[in-house]
Amino acid sequence: MRLGLLTGGGDCPGLNAVIRAVVHRTVKGHGGSVVGFRHGWRGVLQSEIEDLDLKKVSGILPRGGTILGTSRTNPYKEPGGEARIRQELAGRGVDALIVVGGEDTLGVAAKLHEAGIPLVGVPKTIDNDVNGTDWTFGFDTALSIATEAIDRLHTTAESHERIMVVEVMGRYAGWIAMHAGVAGNAQVILMPEIPYDIDKVVEHIKARYGFGRRYCIVVVAEGAKPKDGDISILGTEIGREVRLGGIADKIGSYLGNRTGFEVRSLVLGHIQRGGSPTHRDRLLALRFGAAAVRMVEQGKFGNIVAYHPPHMVPVPIEDAIRVMKTVPLDSDTVQTARDLGICLGD
Ligand code: F6P
Repeated sequence: MRLGLLTGGGDCPGLNAVIRAVVHRTVKGHGGSVVGFRHGWRGVLQSEIEDLDLKKVSGILPRGGTILGTSRTNPYKEPGGEARIRQELAGRGVDALIVVGGEDTLGVAAKLHEAGIPLVGVPKTIDNDVNGTDWTFGFDTALSIATEAIDRLHTTAESHERIMVVEVMGRYAGWIAMHAGVAGNAQVILMPEIPYDIDKVVEHIKARYGFGRRYCIVVVAEGAKPKDGDISILGTEIGREVRLGGIADKIGSYLGNRTGFEVRSLVLGHIQRGGSPTHRDRLLALRFGAAAVRMVEQGKFGNIVAYHPPHMVPVPIEDAIRVMKTVPLDSDTVQTARDLGICLGD
């Protein structure tokens, strides 16, 4: 069996672990081979390939990023895209494709599956917002980085009696904001699931200062929005969704004006996505990769591998891309945040 493999969309710690597991299972499991397509769908369209053998995947487990490279190319936005993909796969003797990606990359996979191309998806995002799977690899690494950053902000905030507003990733879902915020003992957490009332945040901070706790950590997801306003857009790029950003600055200057307290804001940005995966993400990513090959062997095409602890199970790609998986407001983590007196902006 000859497998094709690609990684598309934003990178994520753990992608190389997936690649390693796919190659090991394929080569050692049944003497098959793996052809990697470089830069996501672009590599299939432009025939940029790399044969992946055991030597190529040696030593890559702890490395961040993806040795295959990635892009946000969408073949359905290219002339004759679907036909070119079919032709390339046939020309390379690919029996089935493993597609590692987020919403956009898996959206393309769903259409290609409909068109009869045998493939299996592996969900990937630090944002943990892919539907159908409890957890995605990369999320734990992003959480560790964000939590450590929040920990560090406490001492400087306290020394200067400042409000620190820290912006984390999360376009549609506040998984990173909520989990890192609670773990990092933030006093305010704002996320897309709860449009915030800035007056409530002001009241909360003033009351805290009034009790003598004269500093405050505010964690805000990039996609958070005020209850009467819009998300904060940084700019646009051709062929992709708008870039979000700037919410921490906006909230920071508003809080400064309204409270009279000193404020600093910062954006964690791509630091959350770079570098070596945690042991938890390495393990999870290896399991996703190996399970993807087993699903191909069993002919379970048109599915993503999903993690339903303790099992890896097939879930139709259509279900994975139908909706974003947001933080359930009745979840135990959200309830715990409220129990701890954290202000969620409502
Ligand atoms: O990986 C998902 C994500 O991290 C979003 O939270 C964020 O908005 C986006 O990627 C940033 O993408 P890019 O690196 O292309 O600017």
